[in-house]
Amino acid sequence: MITSNPGKVKEYREVLTALGIETEHLHMTYDEVQSSDLEEVVSKGMEEVRRKGIRDFIIDDSGLFIDSLGGFPGVWSAYVQKTIGNRGVLKLMECVEDRRAEFRCCIGCDVGGRTTIVTGKCRGLILPEEAGCGGFGFDPIFSSDGETSFADIAPETKNRISHRGDAIRLLLAELGKEN
Ligand code: IMP
Repeated sequence: MITSNPGKVKEYREVLTALGIETEHLHMTYDEVQSSDLEEVVSKGMEEVRRKGIRDFIIDDSGLFIDSLGGFPGVWSAYVQKTIGNRGVLKLMECVEDRRAEFRCCIGCDVGGRTTIVTGKCRGLILPEEAGCGGFGFDPIFSSDGETSFADIAPETKNRISHRGDAIRLLLAELGKEN
């Protein structure tokens, strides 16, 4: 898998290793096109990786889409995480009653010359403050049940309910390998 995010690698390995699927982590970045669509970012990213001569890989582009902010930060999640961070997002959400949000994970998979793109989703709420010390990125401010943050649940629980777990299951089903 191609990513610069060790948190993602851990989550993929946990599910795929249990299924007997070995993964190699290639620490590599690719240009993310300016688009409001995760699938388009992934599709263009795959083209760039292929241009580098790499075959049989997966890439993952994810984001946090907050309903009351019109889907922001969405495809700009990495930039928002790097700049204002979780505290900045919480500041934007101060006094906002509608705290519904959705994590989305888009996987692009190239295997044996076949391209598969799937998007997994997980709905939840933005918590009033950061909680927990596990996970990565927005995990401390997102909760699927409105109480416990993704940074406060076991990795295997996160994989069972998360956008990434959903996307991996969709991918395996597409490739004909049920999870
Ligand atoms: P990207 O897919 O690497 O561009 O990620 C976009 C941003 O969303 C990064 O800042 C990630 O840390 C964050 N992110 C992606 N997936 C997750 C997740 O499962 N939990 C929390 N944050 C995430």
